[in-house]
Amino acid sequence: MTLAAPSQQLTAAGRPLCHRPYARLAARRRNGPRLASVASRFSPTTVAAAAAAASSSSGPLSLFSPSKINLFLRITARRPDGFHELASIFHVIDLGENMTFEELPEGGAGSAAKDELLCDAEGVPTDATNLAVKALDLFRSKMPAGSPAATRFFRVTLEKNVPHGAGLGGGSANAATALWAANEVAGRPASAAQLAAWGGEIGSDISVFFSKGAAYCTGRGELVEDVKPPLPLGTPMLLVKPPAGLSTPAVFRALDLGSRSAADPLRLSAGLRNLGRGSRELCVNDLEPPAFLLMPELEEVKERLAKERGVDASFMTGSGSTVVALGNGRESSKSLSPPSWFLEEEKYKDWFWSPARLIARAEGEWYRGPE
Ligand code: C5P
Repeated sequence: MTLAAPSQQLTAAGRPLCHRPYARLAARRRNGPRLASVASRFSPTTVAAAAAAASSSSGPLSLFSPSKINLFLRITARRPDGFHELASIFHVIDLGENMTFEELPEGGAGSAAKDELLCDAEGVPTDATNLAVKALDLFRSKMPAGSPAATRFFRVTLEKNVPHGAGLGGGSANAATALWAANEVAGRPASAAQLAAWGGEIGSDISVFFSKGAAYCTGRGELVEDVKPPLPLGTPMLLVKPPAGLSTPAVFRALDLGSRSAADPLRLSAGLRNLGRGSRELCVNDLEPPAFLLMPELEEVKERLAKERGVDASFMTGSGSTVVALGNGRESSKSLSPPSWFLEEEKYKDWFWSPARLIARAEGEWYRGPE
């Protein structure tokens, strides 16, 4: 596998070398999050007092909505409610998109009664079924009745970069970012822990984004324990995904509990920390066998990427269909570019690919995109 900075190079077939609009993200990043009229530090004020005290005249708030990978994913049990207990190290990554939140007029004639979501990406619903809109509804429902935060609606613009049905938690990150934004505008009435608990009510993968970036998750995935990043944040990786996504319920339905790894998740976690890099033995995902049954091309690409020089481990993230090639920590100043066979073979012509990095956030701040 070649190691090179993301660039404007073209393949022999004339295809762009990167499916990811890095330059656009970098430009957004330079602008930074706009937090006009928003408290800049966490305050332990009660929900009611903070929500009542917050100004309702905040300017548009622009935030980076990241995504995640699972460094390992063990399924520990099937539950009577149809969900599965899991144990996994989730890590937030810098593949993401920009979201802008603008308050809609409140009170009097012309006041808003619902959020507006503007997103022109194909297949992304912009109505109340979108997880980001559900998150804003949820936030209002948690605010004291009659407070501005309980009746504040937003115009949300979403510039989608993270593919859907990818196991990258892109929609969940949008919901987490929406919860964070609504809480910022309201003057931070809720703690990150409260936002994580609320997020768990509408999806399994939302809470993890309220960690600092690396988390040991259990339950449905919503029980989040912050951990020190087990791998260097500079560890390069490459994400590849076929045009088709995988449905999480379908992958769980196809799971044969007999085909799972026997590895103790706490040992996997300790192993990653001790080794400081990925390995085939540590980066296990119990959802690979069912996903590979549904999409055999994922297993093939995983095995081919695993053989590339500079790749410590390749594995599927979440319920797929993204396969991650984790680079070698020693090459931390470089990015992973796809190998020539991936760029040139016809069968990968329409695949999404992107370099990415592990990221973390500072206390009281949200994630930032690539520099
Ligand atoms: O929570 P989320 O909406 O991602 O879950 C989608 C579906 O995936 C669930 O309805 C369930 O069928 C399956 N799932 C599961 N166990 C989990 C998470 C999801 O069985 N821990």
